Amino acid sequence: MDFYETINLRRSIRAYKKDPVENDKLDRILNAARLAPTAANRQPFSLIVVKNEQVKYKLKDAYSQEWFYTAPVIICACASPGTAWKRNDGKAYVDVDVAIAMDHLILAASAEGLGTCWIAAFKPEVVRDALNIPDNLEPLILTPLGYPEVIPEPTFRKPLEEMVKEI
Ligand SMILES: Cc1cc2nc3c(=O)[nH]c(=O)nc-3n(C[C@H](O)[C@H](O)[C@H](O)COP(=O)(O)O)c2cc1C
Repeated sequence: MDFYETINLRRSIRAYKKDPVENDKLDRILNAARLAPTAANRQPFSLIVVKNEQVKYKLKDAYSQEWFYTAPVIICACASPGTAWKRNDGKAYVDVDVAIAMDHLILAASAEGLGTCWIAAFKPEVVRDALNIPDNLEPLILTPLGYPEVIPEPTFRKPLEEMVKEI
């Protein structure tokens, strides 16, 4: 799929088919995240891939939408603040690094015909317990992964003139 077509077709998917995700597709999607650029190439993130039904069900208490915890796969992107690059003034870039990796993953999923949905509004301590995440990592973003059951219409975007300033 053409790159711009991939961007145009991506949606937040909130209804998934039960069909499993093929391992070769999952590998390519995870590798897309691995190839993401990070500040000073520190690669301060790790990904937890959840396929186990019992573990997914535990995540219900972290984010209770049924389309989330019943999706065939759930991926949790964890930040590693202790290994990430910081600017001289102390500004931390770890969230930027994780977001870029996650966006690679999400666009790769879209190119494979799979659906995802960024999820930030979860209870981090519940995710930490369910996935045994150690203290040096922070669960930052979750996404379900699976074949879309319903593909929504595109959502509104501000016009370019409103967000771009030429000087
Ligand atoms: C950082 C981030 C966090 C988000 N958190 C949630 C969330 O917790 N739950 C949810 O349903 N959607 C979440 N979304 C999805 C947005 O609502 C969605 O991307 C936006 O409305 C645009 O729609 P689209 O993705 O279909 O283009 C999140 C998106 C981003 C980028």
